[in-house]
Amino acid sequence: MARFTLPRDLYHGKGALEALKSFQGRKAMICVGGGSMKRFGFLDRARQYLEEAGMEVELFEGIEPDPSVETVMRGAEAMTKFEPDWIVAMGGGSPIDAAKAMWIKYEYPEITFEEMCKVFGIPSLRRKAHFCAISSTSGTATEVTAFSIITDYQKGIKYPIADFEITPDVAIVDPDLAETMPQKLVAHTGMDAMTHAVEAYVSTANCDFTDPLALHAIGMIQQDLVKSYNGDMEKRASMHNAQCLAGMAFSNALLGIVHSMAHKTGAAFADHGAHIIHGAANAMYLPKVIAFNAKEETAKKRYGEIADFMKLGGDTPEEKVDLLIAYLRKMNDDLNIPHCIGHYGPDSYPAEQGFVPEAVFLERLPEIAANAILDACTGSNPRQPSQEEMEKLLKCCYYDTEVDF
Ligand SMILES: NC(=O)c1ccc[n+]([C@@H]2O[C@H](COP(=O)([O-])OP(=O)(O)OC[C@H]3O[C@@H](n4cnc5c(N)ncnc54)[C@H](O)[C@@H]3O)[C@@H](O)[C@H]2O)c1
Ligand SMILES: [Zn+2]
Repeated sequence: MARFTLPRDLYHGKGALEALKSFQGRKAMICVGGGSMKRFGFLDRARQYLEEAGMEVELFEGIEPDPSVETVMRGAEAMTKFEPDWIVAMGGGSPIDAAKAMWIKYEYPEITFEEMCKVFGIPSLRRKAHFCAISSTSGTATEVTAFSIITDYQKGIKYPIADFEITPDVAIVDPDLAETMPQKLVAHTGMDAMTHAVEAYVSTANCDFTDPLALHAIGMIQQDLVKSYNGDMEKRASMHNAQCLAGMAFSNALLGIVHSMAHKTGAAFADHGAHIIHGAANAMYLPKVIAFNAKEETAKKRYGEIADFMKLGGDTPEEKVDLLIAYLRKMNDDLNIPHCIGHYGPDSYPAEQGFVPEAVFLERLPEIAANAILDACTGSNPRQPSQEEMEKLLKCCYYDTEVDF
């Protein structure tokens, strides 16, 4: 038996934020990040709408990018004090993910972070509060997914919490919020969404319910992402929907090793100057992983279907896979994203000399490969890599060399 779960309600379109006016409850806690929602006036509007709905409102502000376990615990404490019956999380993936984890701790004060991380091990929520997610970036789709990513900074590892219990009750997908994204955020979150859709389509857990969502998202991102990056606000609005469709697909079909590798390389070189931003990592690794997975017949056929849907041409499955890879690489060029870690420079832009020195990469490679294999996303990848294959694949992602194994 398989399960397909989405939020009960999804409000979308310009001005959808107003849906908050129709919420019923006593007390709402709004959870936000570092300030963009306040700066652009969305926080005030959300607060006002909830007050119009007759609710007492309290804010939990300052949730950092890539939120920590400590922030989750602090937020849960604030919730325990205020006792909201609505949690309204607003912003990028970071504040929404943090609020999801706070929600679990608020409902079950005794639960430990380790217990939360047991896959599909969350007890029933909604005894104290319902959850509304309002996204301001166009990539993670956490407003509709069963996931929350929390970082344990002591261990330097990102942990996914995965359970349909944390799929929000209400998602608000209002493109107004995405208009203020800086260009680089558009590029990274957009390629994250493309990766979600492609990985969901070839995942071993794909099904009739997830396939149409994944394909439609891919088609939209193909049409809209680069134009959105270049400032077309109609395309920006369309991308906000497309990433959400991709999220509906991957929340139910799961992902693959592009994400495993992105999770385990993201913070691995932080001592050398920078994180590899999630979306940029996905953008660089996706073409390599397609070449690797396409050695498996079913995956090759499904990549071919994606290429056909994108009208890329090609006669044989092999040609279609090659055209898909070439198309995605061209998108990276158009979005100013490098092709490999070796050229991942300051500010995530392409550079002759990236910030990860070759010797450091090679020294850490065996451990990163081992961690990537153990990542929760590896299980649903269409081809299971050995340690040796994962190391070779990561090397291709460092040097931008061809995957011929
Ligand atoms: N839960 C999931 O299913 C899922 C999926 C993929 C990634 N993630 C996680 O989500 C996090 C990344 O989320 P993200 O990419 O949305 O970024 P983010 O939430 O970390 O935000 C990045 C920066 O963009 C700013 N920002 C957000 N929206 C803005 C806007 N509209 N205008 C201007 N600035 C804005 C924020 O203030 C912040 O400084 C990571 O922790 C990642 O691991 C979660
Ligand atoms: Zn992602």
